[in-house]
Amino acid sequence: MNAEERPVDVLVMGAGTIGCFIGGSLAVAGVRVAFVGRPRMLGALSSRGITLTDLDGISNHVSPGMIQLAEAVPPGIRPGLVLLTVKSGATAEAASELAARLPAGTAVLSLQNGISNAAVASEAAPRLNILPAMVPYNVAEIGPGAFHRGTVGRLAAKDDPTLRRWVSVFERAGVPIDLYADLLPIQWGKLLLNLNNPINALSGLPLRDELLQRGYRRCLAGLMDEALAELAMAGIQPAQLAVVPAAKLPGILRLPTPLFRVVAARMLRIDAKARSSMADDLALGRRTEIDALCGEVVRLAKANGSKAPRNAKMVELLEAWPERKERWAPRQLAAELGL
Ligand SMILES: NC(=O)c1ccc[n+]([C@@H]2O[C@H](COP(=O)([O-])OP(=O)(O)OC[C@H]3O[C@@H](n4cnc5c(N)ncnc54)[C@H](OP(=O)(O)O)[C@@H]3O)[C@@H](O)[C@H]2O)c1
Repeated sequence: MNAEERPVDVLVMGAGTIGCFIGGSLAVAGVRVAFVGRPRMLGALSSRGITLTDLDGISNHVSPGMIQLAEAVPPGIRPGLVLLTVKSGATAEAASELAARLPAGTAVLSLQNGISNAAVASEAAPRLNILPAMVPYNVAEIGPGAFHRGTVGRLAAKDDPTLRRWVSVFERAGVPIDLYADLLPIQWGKLLLNLNNPINALSGLPLRDELLQRGYRRCLAGLMDEALAELAMAGIQPAQLAVVPAAKLPGILRLPTPLFRVVAARMLRIDAKARSSMADDLALGRRTEIDALCGEVVRLAKANGSKAPRNAKMVELLEAWPERKERWAPRQLAAELGL
């Protein structure tokens, strides 16, 4: 792709599940979007375009001619906004690539899980304006060039004058975004929910089946308790992103399953086959985002002068997966976590 050919409004750095869904939604709304990604994904997008569906029955298609595709950040490109949508382990490298090609001050929205990705990107690209954001919904790649949003919610990002100009565009594109002076409580609120990702990955089960086993829920409650205690110590009040306040989640998770089914009916409205993407990462031998989830709790504890042994153990178990490759039963996992 040559930047002189066609101007670009939005550059997606990391054409994967989230990048294609949000970038594709913006393209449907008439935004000129360029995608930087790997050959496998670019091949699918160049032959099929992007098909976007969601649980409300929305279905949109972006034809290949509507988007620009590249294997590296094109020289001379001047996007109004960059969406940084690589997994946490790839953040520093992707940010360095952006820094080498984009004008100083370019706004880069880190649509990534965890707490530290924007800081990691800023360190690698200090002249760019890196802004943290939070994606509340789950998106799955359901076929080549086809992406399905399986849950609902509104994007959240740190308030910034550049982003304010994009709010109406995101709204029109069906990916509404809210801006907050302080995003940290929202990022932690999401992280607490994401603590289920490693449990789901180690369980070897679809999310719904895993959550319907009280043993796994007790493990999750144990990880959450530890994180909540550290957050309280640090004076951070996690935002409520589920039906109940974050502090009430462990109690609900520990309920007997028949009661949990009723109380958490909304939480259980998940596609029967859906798994966390961390489960896919383990299955495909890819690096996981465990350090950006449980690892973040461990770092917070360290900063508090305390320890988070259960979350530390989860980091260990995920890292040891390549040698074991055997699913963990609820009792075994609880024992490892000291529960
Ligand atoms: N998927 C969801 O439902 C969801 C929901 C909320 C938040 N998130 C968060 O969103 C972020 C992105 O997740 P995702 O599921 O969209 O990941 P993904 O599907 O793996 O997409 C990232 C893509 O970027 C590519 N990539 C990495 N470095 C690159 C580079 N330097 N240049 C070009 N391409 C590069 C990756 O290729 P390689 O695999 O070859 O590195 C991969 O194809 C994560 O932090 C995740 O936790 C995801």
